[in-house]
Amino acid sequence: MSRVPLIAGNWKMHKTIAEAEALIQALLPRVSAADGVDVAICPPFTTLQAMVDSARGSRVAVWAQNMHQAQEGAFTGEVSAPMLSELDVAGVLLGHSERRELFGETDRALAQKVPAAFAAGLLPVLCVGETEDERERGDTERKLRHQVQEDLARIDPGQLGDVVIAYEPIWAIGTGQTATVEQAQEAIAFVRALVADRSPQAAERTRILYGGSVKPDSAAELLGMPDIDGALVGGASLDAEAMAAIVAAAIP
Ligand code: PGA
Repeated sequence: MSRVPLIAGNWKMHKTIAEAEALIQALLPRVSAADGVDVAICPPFTTLQAMVDSARGSRVAVWAQNMHQAQEGAFTGEVSAPMLSELDVAGVLLGHSERRELFGETDRALAQKVPAAFAAGLLPVLCVGETEDERERGDTERKLRHQVQEDLARIDPGQLGDVVIAYEPIWAIGTGQTATVEQAQEAIAFVRALVADRSPQAAERTRILYGGSVKPDSAAELLGMPDIDGALVGGASLDAEAMAAIVAAAIP
Protein backbone atom coordinates (compact mmCIF):
# COMPACT_ATOMS: atom_id res chain seq x y z
CA MET A 1 0.00 0.00 0.00
CA SER A 2 1.35 3.45 -0.81
CA ARG A 3 1.15 6.11 1.85
CA VAL A 4 0.71 9.78 0.92
CA PRO A 5 3.88 11.68 1.88
CA LEU A 6 3.41 14.28 4.58
CA ILE A 7 5.59 17.29 5.33
CA ALA A 8 4.80 19.25 8.49
CA GLY A 9 6.45 22.45 9.68
CA ASN A 10 6.70 22.98 13.42
CA TRP A 11 7.01 26.71 13.98
CA LYS A 12 7.50 26.26 17.75
CA MET A 13 7.34 29.59 19.66
CA HIS A 14 7.98 31.73 16.62
CA LYS A 15 5.81 34.29 14.79
CA THR A 16 3.34 36.92 15.82
CA ILE A 17 0.13 37.01 13.79
CA ALA A 18 1.62 39.57 11.39
CA GLU A 19 4.79 37.52 10.94
CA ALA A 20 2.84 34.27 10.55
CA GLU A 21 0.67 35.90 7.90
CA ALA A 22 3.75 36.93 5.93
CA LEU A 23 5.19 33.40 6.17
CA ILE A 24 2.04 31.61 5.06
CA GLN A 25 1.51 34.05 2.19
CA ALA A 26 5.05 33.23 1.04
CA LEU A 27 4.51 29.50 1.50
CA LEU A 28 1.12 28.95 -0.16
CA PRO A 29 2.09 29.75 -3.78
CA ARG A 30 5.33 27.78 -3.40
CA VAL A 31 3.53 24.53 -2.45
CA SER A 32 0.35 24.88 -4.51
CA ALA A 33 1.61 22.55 -7.26
CA ALA A 34 2.95 19.84 -4.94
CA ASP A 35 0.42 17.23 -6.02
CA GLY A 36 0.44 14.04 -4.05
CA VAL A 37 1.98 15.58 -0.94
CA ASP A 38 0.13 16.51 2.26
CA VAL A 39 1.51 19.68 3.85
CA ALA A 40 0.87 20.97 7.37
CA ILE A 41 2.06 23.83 9.54
CA CYS A 42 2.02 23.92 13.35
CA PRO A 43 1.95 27.59 14.34
CA PRO A 44 1.55 28.96 17.88
CA PHE A 45 -1.92 28.96 19.46
CA THR A 46 -2.34 32.72 19.08
CA THR A 47 -1.99 32.53 15.30
CA LEU A 48 -4.14 29.42 14.69
CA GLN A 49 -7.32 31.23 13.72
CA ALA A 50 -5.51 33.52 11.29
CA MET A 51 -3.59 30.60 9.76
CA VAL A 52 -6.73 28.48 9.37
CA ASP A 53 -8.42 31.39 7.57
CA SER A 54 -5.42 31.99 5.32
CA ALA A 55 -4.90 28.31 4.49
CA ARG A 56 -8.56 27.56 3.73
CA GLY A 57 -8.92 26.02 0.27
CA SER A 58 -5.17 25.35 -0.02
CA ARG A 59 -3.25 22.09 0.42
CA VAL A 60 -1.84 23.32 3.74
CA ALA A 61 -3.44 21.91 6.89
CA VAL A 62 -3.08 23.71 10.21
CA TRP A 63 -2.17 21.77 13.33
CA ALA A 64 -1.61 22.85 16.93
CA GLN A 65 1.59 22.06 18.83
CA ASN A 66 0.00 20.68 22.01
CA MET A 67 -3.32 20.30 23.85
CA HIS A 68 -4.63 19.13 27.21
CA GLN A 69 -6.26 15.71 27.52
CA ALA A 70 -9.39 16.98 29.33
CA GLN A 71 -12.29 18.57 27.47
CA GLU A 72 -12.42 21.44 29.94
CA GLY A 73 -11.61 22.13 33.56
CA ALA A 74 -9.47 24.00 36.04
CA PHE A 75 -6.21 23.76 34.08
CA THR A 76 -4.92 27.31 33.89
CA GLY A 77 -3.02 28.05 30.71
CA GLU A 78 -4.11 24.91 28.86
CA VAL A 79 -6.11 24.45 25.65
CA SER A 80 -8.43 21.50 24.92
CA ALA A 81 -9.09 19.45 21.80
CA PRO A 82 -12.66 20.78 21.30
CA MET A 83 -11.25 24.33 21.45
CA LEU A 84 -8.89 23.48 18.61
CA SER A 85 -11.43 21.71 16.45
CA GLU A 86 -13.80 24.67 16.87
CA LEU A 87 -11.17 26.72 15.03
CA ASP A 88 -11.07 24.13 12.21
CA VAL A 89 -7.59 23.07 13.24
CA ALA A 90 -7.02 19.67 11.62
CA GLY A 91 -4.44 18.02 13.85
CA VAL A 92 -2.17 18.35 16.84
CA LEU A 93 1.42 17.46 17.71
CA LEU A 94 1.52 15.35 20.85
CA GLY A 95 4.54 14.54 22.96
CA HIS A 96 7.08 16.66 21.13
CA SER A 97 10.41 16.16 22.90
CA GLU A 98 10.46 19.81 23.96
CA ARG A 99 7.12 19.25 25.72
CA ARG A 100 8.45 16.07 27.31
CA GLU A 101 11.84 17.45 28.35
CA LEU A 102 11.05 21.07 29.22
CA PHE A 103 7.43 20.87 30.40
CA GLY A 104 7.15 17.46 32.03
CA GLU A 105 4.85 15.84 29.45
CA THR A 106 4.34 12.21 30.50
CA ASP A 107 3.46 9.02 28.63
CA ARG A 108 0.54 8.72 31.00
CA ALA A 109 -0.89 12.04 29.81
CA LEU A 110 -0.16 11.15 26.19
CA ALA A 111 -2.10 7.90 26.51
CA GLN A 112 -5.12 10.15 27.20
CA LYS A 113 -4.26 12.87 24.72
CA VAL A 114 -4.20 10.64 21.64
CA PRO A 115 -7.81 9.38 22.08
CA ALA A 116 -8.93 12.88 23.17
CA ALA A 117 -7.60 14.26 19.88
CA PHE A 118 -9.45 11.61 17.85
CA ALA A 119 -12.65 12.21 19.84
CA ALA A 120 -12.56 15.88 18.83
CA GLY A 121 -11.89 15.06 15.18
CA LEU A 122 -8.22 16.06 15.28
CA LEU A 123 -5.40 14.08 13.66
CA PRO A 124 -3.01 13.04 16.44
CA VAL A 125 0.68 13.31 15.53
CA LEU A 126 2.63 11.48 18.21
CA CYS A 127 6.32 12.36 18.55
CA VAL A 128 8.78 9.80 19.91
CA GLY A 129 12.55 9.58 20.07
CA GLU A 130 15.61 8.82 22.15
CA THR A 131 18.20 11.07 23.79
CA GLU A 132 21.87 10.93 22.83
CA ASP A 133 22.64 9.05 26.07
CA GLU A 134 19.97 6.47 25.35
CA ARG A 135 21.33 5.91 21.84
CA GLU A 136 24.87 5.54 23.13
CA ARG A 137 23.76 3.07 25.81
CA GLY A 138 21.99 1.01 23.15
CA ASP A 139 18.58 1.87 24.60
CA THR A 140 16.99 3.37 21.47
CA GLU A 141 14.62 0.47 20.82
CA ARG A 142 13.66 0.15 24.47
CA LYS A 143 12.74 3.85 24.59
CA LEU A 144 10.76 3.72 21.34
CA ARG A 145 8.93 0.57 22.41
CA HIS A 146 7.99 2.15 25.72
CA GLN A 147 6.72 5.38 24.13
CA VAL A 148 4.78 3.74 21.28
CA GLN A 149 3.20 1.08 23.48
CA GLU A 150 2.25 3.42 26.34
CA ASP A 151 1.11 6.42 24.32
CA LEU A 152 -1.05 4.40 21.91
CA ALA A 153 -2.35 1.90 24.47
CA ARG A 154 -5.92 3.21 24.37
CA ILE A 155 -6.21 3.33 20.60
CA ASP A 156 -7.98 0.32 19.14
CA PRO A 157 -6.36 -1.50 16.22
CA GLY A 158 -8.95 -0.16 13.77
CA GLN A 159 -7.92 3.43 14.48
CA LEU A 160 -4.20 2.86 14.88
CA GLY A 161 -3.56 3.31 11.17
CA ASP A 162 -4.90 6.87 11.31
CA VAL A 163 -2.32 8.03 13.85
CA VAL A 164 0.72 9.84 12.47
CA ILE A 165 3.97 9.12 14.31
CA ALA A 166 7.05 11.33 14.12
CA TYR A 167 10.36 9.74 15.02
CA GLU A 168 12.62 12.53 16.23
CA PRO A 169 15.94 11.58 17.83
CA ILE A 170 16.39 14.30 20.45
CA TRP A 171 20.09 14.65 19.67
CA ALA A 172 19.18 15.66 16.10
CA ILE A 173 16.63 18.36 16.94
CA GLY A 174 17.84 21.89 16.33
CA THR A 175 21.44 20.74 16.35
CA GLY A 176 22.14 20.61 12.64
CA GLN A 177 23.12 16.98 13.22
CA THR A 178 20.65 14.92 11.14
CA ALA A 179 20.45 11.20 11.79
CA THR A 180 21.99 9.25 8.92
CA VAL A 181 19.39 7.91 6.52
CA GLU A 182 20.24 4.42 7.74
CA GLN A 183 19.68 5.38 11.39
CA ALA A 184 16.39 7.08 10.52
CA GLN A 185 15.17 4.19 8.35
CA GLU A 186 16.13 1.61 10.97
CA ALA A 187 14.36 3.40 13.83
CA ILE A 188 11.27 4.09 11.74
CA ALA A 189 11.06 0.48 10.52
CA PHE A 190 11.28 -0.53 14.19
CA VAL A 191 8.40 1.83 15.08
CA ARG A 192 6.37 0.39 12.20
CA ALA A 193 7.04 -3.12 13.51
CA LEU A 194 5.75 -2.02 16.92
CA VAL A 195 2.51 -0.87 15.29
CA ALA A 196 2.39 -4.18 13.37
CA ASP A 197 2.53 -6.07 16.68
CA ARG A 198 -0.90 -4.54 17.37
CA SER A 199 -2.22 -4.58 13.80
CA PRO A 200 -0.37 -5.47 10.58
CA GLN A 201 -3.02 -3.60 8.54
CA ALA A 202 -2.56 -0.46 10.63
CA ALA A 203 1.21 -0.65 10.20
CA GLU A 204 0.77 -0.52 6.42
CA ARG A 205 -1.32 2.65 6.73
CA THR A 206 0.36 4.56 9.55
CA ARG A 207 2.48 7.41 8.30
CA ILE A 208 5.76 7.69 10.16
CA LEU A 209 7.78 10.88 9.73
CA TYR A 210 11.40 11.66 10.47
CA GLY A 211 12.26 14.86 12.33
CA GLY A 212 15.52 16.42 13.44
CA SER A 213 17.45 19.05 11.43
CA VAL A 214 15.73 18.20 8.13
CA LYS A 215 16.94 20.67 5.50
CA PRO A 216 16.34 20.96 1.74
CA ASP A 217 19.63 19.21 0.98
CA SER A 218 18.97 16.22 3.27
CA ALA A 219 15.27 15.78 2.53
CA ALA A 220 15.32 13.81 -0.73
CA GLU A 221 17.60 11.07 0.58
CA LEU A 222 15.60 10.67 3.80
CA LEU A 223 12.28 10.65 1.97
CA GLY A 224 13.61 8.05 -0.44
CA MET A 225 13.86 5.44 2.30
CA PRO A 226 11.11 2.81 2.25
CA ASP A 227 9.66 3.42 5.72
CA ILE A 228 10.07 7.21 5.92
CA ASP A 229 6.73 8.74 4.92
CA GLY A 230 7.56 12.37 5.43
CA ALA A 231 9.24 14.90 7.67
CA LEU A 232 8.53 17.04 10.71
CA VAL A 233 10.57 20.15 10.06
CA GLY A 234 11.47 22.73 12.70
CA GLY A 235 13.99 25.44 11.86
CA ALA A 236 13.79 25.09 8.08
CA SER A 237 9.99 25.49 8.15
CA LEU A 238 10.42 29.14 9.21
CA ASP A 239 11.75 29.86 5.73
CA ALA A 240 9.12 29.53 2.98
CA GLU A 241 11.70 28.74 0.33
CA ALA A 242 13.34 25.97 2.39
CA MET A 243 9.99 24.49 3.44
CA ALA A 244 8.80 24.47 -0.18
CA ALA A 245 12.01 22.75 -1.28
CA ILE A 246 11.46 20.00 1.30
CA VAL A 247 7.84 19.63 0.12
CA ALA A 248 9.06 19.41 -3.48
CA ALA A 249 11.45 16.62 -2.47
CA ALA A 250 8.44 14.60 -1.28
CA ILE A 251 6.49 14.73 -4.58
CA PRO A 252 6.04 11.09 -5.59
P1 PGA B 1 14.54 20.98 13.72
O1 PGA B 1 13.25 20.66 14.65
O2 PGA B 1 14.13 20.67 12.30
O3 PGA B 1 14.80 22.44 13.93
O4 PGA B 1 15.64 20.09 14.20
C1 PGA B 1 12.47 19.51 14.43
C2 PGA B 1 11.39 19.42 15.47
O5 PGA B 1 11.63 19.77 16.64
O6 PGA B 1 10.25 19.01 15.17
